[in-house]
Amino acid sequence: MKILRGLLLVSSLAFCLTPSFAQQKTIAAKVEALLSKMTLDEKIGQLNQYNGDWAATGPVTKDVGNKLDAIKQGKVGSVLNIMGTNHTRTFQEAAMQSRLKIPLLFGQDVIHGYSITFPIPLAEAASWDLEAMERSARVAATESAAAGIHWTFAPMVDIARDPRWGRVMEGAGEDTYLGSLIAKARVKGFQGKGLGNIDAVMACVKHFAAYGAAVGGRDYNSVDMSKRALWETYLPPFKAALDAGAATFMNSFNDLNGTPATGSSYLQRDILKGKWGFKGFVVSDWNSIGEMIPHGFVKDNYEAAEVAIKAGNDMDMESRAYIGNLAKLVKDGKVNISLVNDAVRRVLTKKFEMGLFDDPYKFINPAREKATMNQPENIEAARDMGRKSIVLLKNEKQILPLSKDFKTIALIGPLGKAKWDLKGAWSTDVDPNENVVSIYEGIQKQAPNAKLLYAEGCKVTDSVSVDFTEAVETAKKADVVVMAVGENIFMTGEARSKANIHIPGVQEDLIKAIVATGKPVVVLLMAGRPMVFNWTAAHAPAIVYAWWLGSQMGNSVADVLFGNYNPAGKLPMTFPRSEGQIPIYYNYLNTGRPSQGDNDTFYRSSYIDLPNTPQYAFGYGLSYTTFGYSNISISKTTIKKTETLTVSFDLQNTGKVAGEEIAQLYIRDMVAQPLRPIKELKDFKKVMLAPGETKRITFIIDKEKLAFYNDSLERITQPGEFKVMIGAASNNIKLEKSFQLTN
Ligand code: GLC
Repeated sequence: MKILRGLLLVSSLAFCLTPSFAQQKTIAAKVEALLSKMTLDEKIGQLNQYNGDWAATGPVTKDVGNKLDAIKQGKVGSVLNIMGTNHTRTFQEAAMQSRLKIPLLFGQDVIHGYSITFPIPLAEAASWDLEAMERSARVAATESAAAGIHWTFAPMVDIARDPRWGRVMEGAGEDTYLGSLIAKARVKGFQGKGLGNIDAVMACVKHFAAYGAAVGGRDYNSVDMSKRALWETYLPPFKAALDAGAATFMNSFNDLNGTPATGSSYLQRDILKGKWGFKGFVVSDWNSIGEMIPHGFVKDNYEAAEVAIKAGNDMDMESRAYIGNLAKLVKDGKVNISLVNDAVRRVLTKKFEMGLFDDPYKFINPAREKATMNQPENIEAARDMGRKSIVLLKNEKQILPLSKDFKTIALIGPLGKAKWDLKGAWSTDVDPNENVVSIYEGIQKQAPNAKLLYAEGCKVTDSVSVDFTEAVETAKKADVVVMAVGENIFMTGEARSKANIHIPGVQEDLIKAIVATGKPVVVLLMAGRPMVFNWTAAHAPAIVYAWWLGSQMGNSVADVLFGNYNPAGKLPMTFPRSEGQIPIYYNYLNTGRPSQGDNDTFYRSSYIDLPNTPQYAFGYGLSYTTFGYSNISISKTTIKKTETLTVSFDLQNTGKVAGEEIAQLYIRDMVAQPLRPIKELKDFKKVMLAPGETKRITFIIDKEKLAFYNDSLERITQPGEFKVMIGAASNNIKLEKSFQLTN
């Protein structure tokens, strides 16, 4: 009896993780049975997605008639931007009036939280804490599923090396290795124990592909790169997300090497559904099918629909190209019905896996919605994620952590009392200022005995000289000054690329005026992207990069400022000294004349007016303590590609307070064809150490960490010398060893 019970337990556990083979067979049979009853129009209806009415996250198509009527007629398979159980019930009830009662999928951009807003994804990436990021996505899924949402259009996994691009805030930064691990963590967080669980939402990996490499960092712009660069740098996070079980993909607005991604059979059929065997479905980005017309790739929506369905785009978000043309394309013999059937199978399979045919109202429970939102443990998770995302850039004279004995603290800057801005782009809940802890409130709570003064100083967008007198006089009254400056919520996100990424307006002049008072000054920089702030970097005694940390930002920041949490974040993107350096990233090729400073004109691959180094490097971040790296050893000096090698070293907390260090492993293939970067991140460990404590850290190097793509897109390794580097940052290598790889 015990064995039977054990088997039952194992099988039920297996089911809750992913549909077992038996379940998949059952679902496949149900899909076939349903498909056989569907008319062509009903099939095309399943591939049609309309925007709801909560918000328009793209250009709205006018005069579309009554959406509820269209749903009742079986012409809609999914609705996005619909919030709350009351709204989703109305739309689902309409679907239940259609002939075959096929339930709708409700999709939403739950990018970094639903009711509780978590830090923007780029900030979370600075934590390098995969568990914390998975938990962040888990909370977002739990809340959004309780609000009737089945499907989030996340994670965005676009590698980005250009901080002018407004959507850098949405991803995991510039590194493929770190970005791949984060992609996996976020998919696992969103999908939890698997589709069909009441707190699991379908993930949607986007934007496939290479959207982050848009020329000039300009959103929607063209992308042109070698296939090797595509496979080496931009595709791996998508594959990692797929391997983590991602239910859906979203293609991208950009053209790639002359083909819009939405119409790219290379991306969607050859790679995604072919080589990678993806069984889920692909949704277009908003109207990206129709936008192949302005791209100049097709002449009308009739052709756009033909190109897109043939290229492997399954569902049409908001272009209406499919609903308006696919039936005719099939009748005209231009599109084989098998392509439509394949796309519909993929969509219906997900609806079955989500349990929506068993109960279309499964996710629509107002009592559960109310009971799930804003739970204390989830609010604490947001505060914790915020703390972990903060990067300490500078701390001269140990101004930080602030003493709680300060009698008077001055908070100065236009973001000191901000609320909505702190949520960052793509925050979802209805009331932008609801449940947000401002910087002012956070400091007030943690320094209740201090007198907290406040002066705005200027507006974020003030562009003319401003009278700073009040701010300066306020600073002079204080024992210490905290400045809250940076961008506003509208300066990053979609369609928010900027040519000038300096701290906006006259805020850096305000910083100069406050630093000139001679008071101890801590500059909090808040933005959704790396900004340029050379004067501040050189002259402010303490600088904290706080990004946008969401609902709990004021508390997370105060936890760090007052030392309740020792910052450990490290930059997931390179911070340039100037827009003129962009693109600038850490894993570049050495070139034949690597810059050696100014000692030789012909070895100055940098600019004549700027050094080649960034303001702050990928992987950089300080702590309130210090760390020592020593005693590196490797298990072998020669390995075959079938063998592994371990690298070990001692990591010590050489300071006076406990703290975490993110020790990074970089590798360089010294001689390779094609060329390999001067270093690549291949592992890291985030280690907590008590003062004085030493831990022996070990990394394992295997063939996969040494492999790369050749010009034939084969994943290979080449024998020769490799350098192993252990760093506190990409530009701060502490220890290194070399070894030989033989065949
Ligand atoms: C937007 C974005 C995409 C988002 C979709 C739905 O244009 O590009 O990331 O998921 O439309 O809002």
